[in-house]
Amino acid sequence: MPDRETAKQSAAGTTAPQAGASSGTRATKGAPSAAEKHRRYLFPCVTTYYEQPLTLVRGEGLHVWDDAGRRYLDCFGGVLTVSVGHCHPEVTEAIVRQAQTLVHTSTLYANPALSDLAEALAQVLPGDLHRFFFSNSGTEADETAVALARVSTGVQEVVVLRYGYSGRSLMAVAASGQAPWKQFGNPVPGFVHAMAPYCYRCPLKLTYPSCEVACAKDVEEVIQTATSGRVAGILAEVILGSGGFIVPPKEYFQIVASIVRKAGGVFIADEVQTGWARTGTMFGIEHYGVVPDIMTFAKGMANGSPIGCTATTDAIAATLKPLSFSTFGGNPVTSAAALATLRVIQKQRLADNARIMGDRLSAALRDMQRRYPIIGDVRGMGLMQGMELVKENKIPDPQAASRILEETRRRGVLIGKGGLWGNVLRIAPPLTVTEAQIDELTAALDESLGELPRT
Ligand SMILES: Cc1ncc(COP(=O)(O)O)c(C=O)c1O
Repeated sequence: MPDRETAKQSAAGTTAPQAGASSGTRATKGAPSAAEKHRRYLFPCVTTYYEQPLTLVRGEGLHVWDDAGRRYLDCFGGVLTVSVGHCHPEVTEAIVRQAQTLVHTSTLYANPALSDLAEALAQVLPGDLHRFFFSNSGTEADETAVALARVSTGVQEVVVLRYGYSGRSLMAVAASGQAPWKQFGNPVPGFVHAMAPYCYRCPLKLTYPSCEVACAKDVEEVIQTATSGRVAGILAEVILGSGGFIVPPKEYFQIVASIVRKAGGVFIADEVQTGWARTGTMFGIEHYGVVPDIMTFAKGMANGSPIGCTATTDAIAATLKPLSFSTFGGNPVTSAAALATLRVIQKQRLADNARIMGDRLSAALRDMQRRYPIIGDVRGMGLMQGMELVKENKIPDPQAASRILEETRRRGVLIGKGGLWGNVLRIAPPLTVTEAQIDELTAALDESLGELPRT
């Protein structure tokens, strides 16, 4: 997804394709390019990266090609979604085979692709999280989780995090904790926003570890002062992705889960970005030594086929009584893609690769931090690494982040950005990335940072 800076540029027209500009079109002479049609026919809120939008026409492994035939090393994977590489042959084969066999059933009928996926997930998820509701997006996965927490506890209020992101439905907008994503305000009541575990910009102006994770302990006061004293649960991203890859301290989730459970609620871990080996373990929450009551997934789970999944225990799932239905949830083709993706992750031990390559990436970013004062913070886990760009006194520098995106693109490398101010570079290549590709990425980043004016 774009960020505030991209959206602002786009609203000002600076990211819109210019007539005749080299947006890399191969369209017939005189015919509008894909980028021009995008601008002409899609809602203006659907913004794109880059001053001249990039049109992608093909992908293979870590590479994508634009419509002028130029190749790029993709280190963002369509927002952490292409997890095992573009058009992975085993995933493609599973999709094609299923598309030639049976494309749609709805959940009014069982289908083997869905049942096999559910069985495989039950073997991988932690604790007793062996019941699944399938949908089409992370938004729906989070929406289902919140509904489940509310129904299973009989309480409406849910704790969410500042800087969080849950998607674009009315519920998800209300749950999100970043003004640029809350243009309809809080259309669904019942959410209270706790402090983010944002160590680089500690809301309490403390320093970890001497802070004793005071932001987590504050959730108790949030519940006592901003709710009825009982809550349905807490919905939290394991790493706050759109918020700028904010990594909570290692004690954080044990503390908040225990506070919330004491207040009658459940712990919902949003693993939409951190799930499926991204952080060097199968699930991000494994780094924190606590098993959630509900987990949500989407993005990388099916390597780019649309999917959402809410996982919970038998007992919690049983509280959501019939009827509840999703026409496309559990679609056979998507389910086949998800199962094939899981098998690739397991067979190629991609959690290990994410950890090893993530360490290499993180070391290179930290080395750059020592050389470029604009890099205020480097943070992340596995192949989910962020660099926060700042001016003096930690003033966010979104213009520099936009410039780095342009410069890395010029060097044939795609990365992302995010954060409340759009000043955090987000680097998250597919889990199949090699040492040589990490080095290519970091060389392009290093050169691009070198292009920025020295302050
Ligand atoms: C952590 C998190 N949760 C939920 C969502 C919503 O997912 P979707 O865009 O698939 O609806 C996103 C999307 O970026 C996300 O990053």
